[in-house]
Order: sequence, then C-alpha cells, then structure tokens
Amino acid sequence: MDWDALIAAAAAARANAYAPYSGFPVGAALLMEDGSIWAGANIENCIPALSTCAERNAMTTAASAGLRKPRAVAVITDTSPPARPCGLCRQTLSEFAREEDLPILMTNLQGDREETTLFKLLPDRFYLAPRE
Ligand code: THU
Repeated sequence: MDWDALIAAAAAARANAYAPYSGFPVGAALLMEDGSIWAGANIENCIPALSTCAERNAMTTAASAGLRKPRAVAVITDTSPPARPCGLCRQTLSEFAREEDLPILMTNLQGDREETTLFKLLPDRFYLAPRE
C-alpha cells in the first residue's frame, strides 16, 4: 500500500478543519475501489452533538458521490502517538467496508505512521443485513 497520496489528501483536508471548540483539527482520506481519493475534515458545532469527525465526513462524501467500497483510510492529527478513529467513525467505516477488512493508517505532522485495520479496531461489529 502506497500511503503518500492518501496522507497528502488527509493533510490538505485537515487544513480546512473547523475545530474552534476543541482546537483539534483532523484530516482523513479514503481510497475507494475505483482508485479515487475522497477527503474530509472535522467540522464542529456549538451544539457538540452536531460536530462531525473527519473520517465520517470523508466516508459520507464518497458515498454521496455513489462510491460505496473503501479500500484504505489515512487519518492525520497533530498528536503523538497519532490519534485513532473514534467509535462512531469505526462503525461508519464498517457499514461500507462490510465483510472486508480495511487498512487504516494513523499519522501525524511529525511523520509518525502506525498501521492497523478496521477489524482490529472494531472486532465483532454490529451488523444488520441490508434489505436489498
Ligand atoms: N475527531 C475526528 O475528526 N476524528 C476522530 O476519529 C476522533 C475525533 C474530531 C472530533 C472533534 O472535532 C475533535 O476531533 C475533538 O474530539
């Protein structure tokens, strides 16, 4: 897996994060099955429940364009060690990754890289068979 393009897209998205309440900008980028890359940043709200994470914004943006199959995810923050995707984002990613495991790279501005997978971060997820 060549992570450089995904990291660059995640870092560019992070620059557009709207995080005035936490002061914690996050960027995420997804490689989809057609080879396209979709990025997102966290967008906060003064009503905390309305804030959305970078990973979910990237996933729902790709899904809104009709792309359903993520192949890899990169997340960038300014923390050491690099931050992990939150529980809500794990579940959202698993909705689209379905039965396939998803490589996840967590990185930071210093260039540290930690690679994991969605199955490791979210084993035994909740699953409801879609009525298709
Ligand atoms: N955040 C993300 O964007 N992704 C995560 O996986 C964890 C947390 C955001 C949400 C909030 O805007 C800020 O980081 C602090 O929690």
